[in-house]
Amino acid sequence: MTALGRALPERVVTNDELAQTLDTSDEWIRTRTGIRERRMAAPGESTVDLAVAAGREALGDSSVDAVVLATSTADQLCPASAPQVAARLGLGTAAAFDVNAVCSGFVYALATAQGFIAGGIANRVLVIGADVFTSLVDPTDRTTVPIFGDGAGAVVLRAGDSDEPGAIGPFDLHSEGELADLLWVEAGGSKHRFSEDQRDHHLVMQGTAVFRHACARMAESSRAVLEQAGWMVGDVDRFVGHQANIRILQATAKHLGLPADAVVANIDRVGNTSAASIPLALADAVDDGTLVPGHRVLLTAFGAGLTWGSTLLTWPELG
Ligand code: UT7
Repeated sequence: MTALGRALPERVVTNDELAQTLDTSDEWIRTRTGIRERRMAAPGESTVDLAVAAGREALGDSSVDAVVLATSTADQLCPASAPQVAARLGLGTAAAFDVNAVCSGFVYALATAQGFIAGGIANRVLVIGADVFTSLVDPTDRTTVPIFGDGAGAVVLRAGDSDEPGAIGPFDLHSEGELADLLWVEAGGSKHRFSEDQRDHHLVMQGTAVFRHACARMAESSRAVLEQAGWMVGDVDRFVGHQANIRILQATAKHLGLPADAVVANIDRVGNTSAASIPLALADAVDDGTLVPGHRVLLTAFGAGLTWGSTLLTWPELG
């Protein structure tokens, strides 16, 4: 990993603002989720717009052979958004495609990019996690609106030695499709193309069940990837989990036996930004000095699908 970028919509939506139209309160949202505010894309501001801005910051003057965009809120149902991102970044005819593993998407996209590089298919890959989840939620649903926010984060991966700082891997990736309906948008795809019931076109979440699975799977996957790498739990300096709920992050860290100060969290400012969550947390941690070169970092994510996965790296000096 050689570079990092991020993009957030300008509009900040506080809990108090949500409480003006929803039956909720700042106190409920803060204590149940850890979220104080989130960013919301302006009308017409899309996943591609945010992905381009984050990608531009990560690329600087450099170029890449491939773009892997983790998203489940592509600008269109078809085609993928990554080619439009590559075009707007002036990347010529670079390979470009989307990876849809929802909130685990960034970890899946890192694995895909690492595989491209290890397989000699590309030398440098731009990996972006970008989502506009506010486009999926029902604005009247207090069980989803307070949770989600919009944003994008990006990293550049380049070919290098597996023992240099910034080398990514191993990976632990899984899914459990029998539980897809715990968190999904039922209509609008090829199966249920249109539903008279508008709710079927919005995100529905069985929050408590998802919470339980998230804690168990992120802990299990973290242990598996640590074992593959030959790291002990005590080797981990920073735990960067998908920012779904501060209580999920704290419970998972506790299951693993990690100290509270190893947990990286920016959920209070951005909410759950789905595929953007991990790179946004990394970028904020670099900015505030809680993540510095040499730190051994555990990344773990969980999301709809269900999907989950983890990976590791020693934090590098970024270009
Ligand atoms: O990105 C990956 C996928 N997403 C997640 O990982 C999210 C996982 N789930 C969660 O983070 C939590 O389950 C939530 C934050 C969504 C909900 O927290 P909870 O502690 O599981 O609350 P709950 O759903 O059990 O609801 C507790 C109470 C209920 O009222 P009663 O039945 O006890 O009277 C809800 O109706 O809180 C009520 N409630 C609310 N009250 C005020 C639910 N949403 C709200 C709200 N404001 N926004």
